[in-house]
Amino acid sequence: MKALITGVAGFVGHTLARRLLSEGHEVVGIDAITDYYDVSIKRANLASIPADGFRFVEADLNDADLGSLLDGVQWIFHQAGQPGVRKSWGSDFGIYTLANINATQRLLEAARNTPSLERFVYASSSSVYGNAERYPTEETDRPQPMSPYGVSKLAAEHLCTLYAENFGVPTVSLRYFTVYGPGQRTDMAFTRFLRAIVTGDKITIYGTGEQIRDFTFVHDVVDANVRAAAIDSTPGSVFNVAGGTSISVNGVLDILREICAEPVNVEYREPVAGDVFRTGGSTDRITETLRWAPQFTLEEGLRAQYEWARKTFAPA
Ligand code: UGA
Repeated sequence: MKALITGVAGFVGHTLARRLLSEGHEVVGIDAITDYYDVSIKRANLASIPADGFRFVEADLNDADLGSLLDGVQWIFHQAGQPGVRKSWGSDFGIYTLANINATQRLLEAARNTPSLERFVYASSSSVYGNAERYPTEETDRPQPMSPYGVSKLAAEHLCTLYAENFGVPTVSLRYFTVYGPGQRTDMAFTRFLRAIVTGDKITIYGTGEQIRDFTFVHDVVDANVRAAAIDSTPGSVFNVAGGTSISVNGVLDILREICAEPVNVEYREPVAGDVFRTGGSTDRITETLRWAPQFTLEEGLRAQYEWARKTFAPA
């Protein structure tokens, strides 16, 4: 198959590119290489993708020539976007609307005019739920985002569904629940924690640390993407991709104390606006339709991320 991955230099994007190439697919990747987090990490991600079968285009989805990029493409994996729940307030919101909503709409228009297209997989987010009605949260539960970021991800998800309904674009939205693992973004909790541990700094916890997350290992998320592309589902479908952990941030610190050789020093600060108290997704629907279930335990995944953090951040 020929696949387009948007956001290919990012955490999930480059991991997915490696998986597709290892299975013999052809990959075209696009990324704007924005400086939201350390650009050298993105360059290293790109460098880790094998050259054979891979073509990279450095461009912004809002002005790239999408027609030529999509020529002959069967699978689109739309991973690009402006991430970060806690930074989406104030004047930065414009960055979120452009990168998450406008860019998705532009890609959907181009997808509409791509006869070879078989699937359009969109990387949505558990942040669309906000503080959900119940746990584990089901895809049919009412989304009520708590952050402007969550609003932008939900708006783009609605765009996918309405392009499916009106024009038959074969979209599938995957609601990722806090993805972690080697290569995780440097603004996210586990990379921040592990970087602090291996450099001897203090970990900062926002709030009491009692907030609960359903953490999902990156290889499981990549597997959900591949299944969403290869297995038929109704256009406009939405699936939770949740690791099934339901653990507090303090609970994660306990695991880190067991697996890390270095001391774990922690300080607590006030909570940050936009942070939900709890996430937890039902995986019944994705198991039934895509036969997906998480394969990695949190401890296995954290050990892998710790090894990566030691190689990436430990002082020489
Ligand atoms: C993450 C991603 O950043 C979003 O892009 C994604 O859409 C979202 O998951 C999702 O699943 O929908 P978040 O759950 O906030 O958002 O992920 P982390 O940055 O890993 O934070 C997890 C928890 O640790 C949060 O409660 C956060 O406040 C806390 N945290 C984070 C700290 O206590 N200290 C830190 O230094 C960083």
